[in-house]
Amino acid sequence: MTITVRIVPCLAAFAVMLVGASASGKGGPQVDSARIAAADAEPGNWMSSGRSYDEQRFSPLDKINAENVSSLGLAWTYKLDVDRAAEATPVVVDGVMYTTGAFSFVYALDARSGKLLWKYDPKVPRAKAANACCDVGNRGVAVRKGKVYVGAFDGRLIALDARNGKKLWETDTVPDHSRSYSITGAPLIVKDKVLIGNGGAEYGVRGYISAFDSETGKLAWRFYTVPGDPKLPAESPAMEMARKTWSGDKYFAEGGGGTVWNAIAYDPQLNLVYFGTGNGVDWNRAARGENKDAADLFLASIVAVNADTGAYAWHYQEVPGDMWDYDADESIVLADLNIGGKPRKVLLQAPKNGFFYVLDRATGELLSAEKFAPATWASKVDLKTGKPQIDDAASDWTSGPKLVMPGPLGAHNWQPMSYSPKTGLVYIPAQEAAALLAPDNDAAFDTHTGAWNLGTQPLALPEDPKQLQPVIDSYKGRLLAWDPVAQKQVWAQEYKTPWNGGTLGTAGNLVFQGTADGRFVAYAADSGKKLWEAPANSGVMAGPMSYNVGGEQYVAVLAGWGGAFPLAYGSLSLNAKVRPESRVLVYKLGGKASLPPPKNAPAAPPEPPPLTADANTVNHGRDLYNGNCGVCHGLSAVSGGVVPDLRYLSPEKHAIFPGIVFGARASRGMPSFAGRLKPDEIEAIHQYLIKRAHDFQDELKTAQMARAP
Ligand code: HEC
Repeated sequence: MTITVRIVPCLAAFAVMLVGASASGKGGPQVDSARIAAADAEPGNWMSSGRSYDEQRFSPLDKINAENVSSLGLAWTYKLDVDRAAEATPVVVDGVMYTTGAFSFVYALDARSGKLLWKYDPKVPRAKAANACCDVGNRGVAVRKGKVYVGAFDGRLIALDARNGKKLWETDTVPDHSRSYSITGAPLIVKDKVLIGNGGAEYGVRGYISAFDSETGKLAWRFYTVPGDPKLPAESPAMEMARKTWSGDKYFAEGGGGTVWNAIAYDPQLNLVYFGTGNGVDWNRAARGENKDAADLFLASIVAVNADTGAYAWHYQEVPGDMWDYDADESIVLADLNIGGKPRKVLLQAPKNGFFYVLDRATGELLSAEKFAPATWASKVDLKTGKPQIDDAASDWTSGPKLVMPGPLGAHNWQPMSYSPKTGLVYIPAQEAAALLAPDNDAAFDTHTGAWNLGTQPLALPEDPKQLQPVIDSYKGRLLAWDPVAQKQVWAQEYKTPWNGGTLGTAGNLVFQGTADGRFVAYAADSGKKLWEAPANSGVMAGPMSYNVGGEQYVAVLAGWGGAFPLAYGSLSLNAKVRPESRVLVYKLGGKASLPPPKNAPAAPPEPPPLTADANTVNHGRDLYNGNCGVCHGLSAVSGGVVPDLRYLSPEKHAIFPGIVFGARASRGMPSFAGRLKPDEIEAIHQYLIKRAHDFQDELKTAQMARAP
């Protein structure tokens, strides 16, 4: 592999960036699969979301280190267009940063100055926001041979000219738009192909991952994760095997689920691609017509396939017959570890379900699995059978409500973990967040309404502040330094709230992490001691990265709040007052740039109109609200600050309430409920919101009185 020729991006219209040697006929980053596979040979670049194919998110740079990190300061910042869910890890090649923002915007920035080189807006229809569970974020680009690839929220895979952001081709990765597929994940380059999956299992889709020719966008292979039409022959031996593990055939109408919405990794030596799969549709196993012993392959599994053909190699199912939304889509990290005195090529994952898994990545053999967070659904994982010992008494909610830990937010979600080969530790953005799951046996299944198909009652939160407080208190975040060989915690940093950011390890004995309460922090990688922090004006969720240009090391992270937790669980989100401001933040030693003052928290809520409805109507409105609106505006009408808090409606907005719900703001991401809700139902929701606005006024008055001398 040659890495001697470094191409200068030909950006005639913009400032000159002399970062490499001579230009060739082509422009843009001449990254290819071999160069990513040898990422350690050029530690100044970060050429793929996880930096290297092992997805370790470890930077070998050490100019910034535990001794001098206290003098870290902002080098530059760049404001993104949409103040929702900033989830991308930037890619930096030869002095240019490529990153994405919410609604799949793509940005190319001068990595030294933050100057915008170009920007691309894929013009995702904003109404599409209603057909995805967890906000409109995007986790980043892939780059190869002068092209930048983005998976757009609406399911398109788009290739851009890296020099100017012009679209070269786009391909629709979704064969059936009557189903609610969406893309939030980052594509991965593997040889001459670009790989991408998608999400949508809450709405009733069939999961798959696709590989496209990176030059033409032509589909090369597709691996479905759950079986297809039971009336037709199975599409592949893998689907033949999977079909036998479903007890009924309702799955086909419902889609099945098992979406590949996040983690993909690649081992060039073994030529295997690894990916994680998600939950089933419905969440409720009984409602999806499956019996207790059905494994439902390949839900909640790690699957390995041949990188050239997509042919099945092995799988490991973490949660047979999943009914807790225990996706296995969380980071997959590859490492070579010494286990039991033998060097082993392993695959590491800390998925939602709370167990830390170590697998042999050549064969899929389970080497160990231990709890890294409280988990009540299973007591342990049997190493012989590879199966969890599920605790039905504690966790089977199909016949009655159960408080299950972890809940659907997981003990670890998409926020990427990292692994440092120097300390031998994995840095997990872990959390505790239980949920009360209860069956909804009357739920009518419909993949076409845009509503969730979970077979659960809405995950409502108590409205009474006194009842809510213990729930708030049970929610925690934790940065966990985990020894994957000994399977035990080495150190931890506790946070008041879940949903903290992804992690970056560096050779400077540092771990970087953003926090839900709006900070960017550096810890000593070996001891966990906090060494530095800076305000970020917004909750930080994304994975940080590091690069070097012109002899200077930089650390970058996207700040910007959003995703499932702040949308639905506003009342548990302590930083409802940290407004979502999406920005690229880039630091260097002695950096002197400043962050603009934070956007103000919302002013006092306006006086709501009088409540005219009776208690029955208000209760009906509450159920309709939690089922239809709570997923974005916050359960119990307490918003996490990403979309408007409906207790703050102005008199003008109250006056046009039905119009807004019937689609007046569809172009701005407020879905139309025309055809889904009747006028009297909208009125009941409106009355419930008026009631919650009055509750809020009372809470504020009580708080004020408590503060008075
Ligand atoms: C998919 C997410 C989503 C869902 C579900 C949703 N909304 Fe919205 N809603 C939004 C967004 C985003 C906005 C802000 C739009 C804008 O910028 O004008 C909004 C704005 C509004 C507004 C105007 C608020 C203001 O202060 O401007 C009202 C009223 C509203 N929504 C009511 C509802 C009701 C009632 C429901 C359920 C029937 C609902 N929404 C469901 C995303 C959602």
